[in-house]
Amino acid sequence: MTTQRTLSIIKPDATRRNLTGAINQRFEEAGLRIVAQKRVNLSRTAAEGFYAEHAERPFFGELVDFMISEPVVLQVLEGENAVLKNREIMGETNPANAGEGTIRKDFALSIGENSVHGSDSEESAAREVSYFFAGTEIAG
Ligand code: CMP
Repeated sequence: MTTQRTLSIIKPDATRRNLTGAINQRFEEAGLRIVAQKRVNLSRTAAEGFYAEHAERPFFGELVDFMISEPVVLQVLEGENAVLKNREIMGETNPANAGEGTIRKDFALSIGENSVHGSDSEESAAREVSYFFAGTEIAG
């Protein structure tokens, strides 16, 4: 077991419905600590850069438009095996496939409006955390 950090985003469909606290309760109850957090309106440039690996996908434009449509909460979660644990708490990308008791099963509206993002590997986590946070903004 190793302590890891991972990037979590509470997406516009969830901030719009005032679900920030309900979602973060799931992370904290599972033992993850929120060691950095900021609520922002993403710029188009920031959203496009963050999702650059999806730039050729047919849903890219829709994804970027959605992510800049309302505020998001950017946060860093820390804990034992945080990358995998976060993904388990979130559930599958498509809420139709998400397991019982997961965030996406309980809150997501669709595969696009799926309430949360989480880094998919340790490598992605390192890149994504540093994309949005300076080291001095993380207080573990
Ligand atoms: P996320 O974990 O933020 O990573 C990429 C996002 O693209 C994903 O969650 C979904 O919200 C979104 N996405 C993936 N597939 C589709 C799709 N077929 N249509 C719309 N959005 C999608």
